[in-house]
Amino acid sequence: MPGVHEVVHPLIGRHLTVLRNETTRPAEFRGSVRRLATLLAYEATKDLGSLPTKVKTPVAMAEGCELTDRIGLVPILRAGLGMVDPVLDLIPSAEVWHLGLYRDEETAQPVRYYDKLPPGKPVDTALVLDPMLATGGSAVAALQTLYEWGVGRAKVLSLIASQEGVDTVAAAFPQAQVYVCKVDPELNDQKFIVPGLGDAGDRSFNTI
Ligand code: PRP
Repeated sequence: MPGVHEVVHPLIGRHLTVLRNETTRPAEFRGSVRRLATLLAYEATKDLGSLPTKVKTPVAMAEGCELTDRIGLVPILRAGLGMVDPVLDLIPSAEVWHLGLYRDEETAQPVRYYDKLPPGKPVDTALVLDPMLATGGSAVAALQTLYEWGVGRAKVLSLIASQEGVDTVAAAFPQAQVYVCKVDPELNDQKFIVPGLGDAGDRSFNTI
């Protein structure tokens, strides 16, 4: 599928194994979320716009570059919060715009509860941060909000996804790019990713 990028790398495989492990405690879980977010962001930002500049080193002038895109990080509350700092470390000039969405436990439908995007000032590139893409409903709702805001392009960064979820996002928004560490085969009756890693928000914030 053209818009879906499963990033294969031994470090991603290793840190994802730690995330999946049911015995991993919250502090270690958060550490693996940060490491995987860094690795995914590296891949997802390869085509950012940049312009050549000059820079004076202590020795001589050298070629440099500066980013030209206005970049927005869009963490989906709550689990996406754990991916903000590592990506902001890579792109210190990025803006951070939070979206609040939770998945109704009965219907598995996304429920919007927070959105303060400033009308008329969309970013050029939005990076949606959410560790999990299960049914894809939350990612579709976030993308809908971002395109209505007017973003130039949007990329979803998720640590783990289901095949059904990425198919749903690709069908709804073929222009969106999705970067994931792994696409798992299925969802169970409760719409949890199988084998997955459980609930990333609860495991990050110790609210199981
Ligand atoms: C989880 C996850 C995604 C969403 C994925 O959030 O972090 O936002 O569910 O499911 P979907 O693809 O089926 O929409 P959750 O509702 O558990 O909220 P939380 O981040 O506050 O724990």
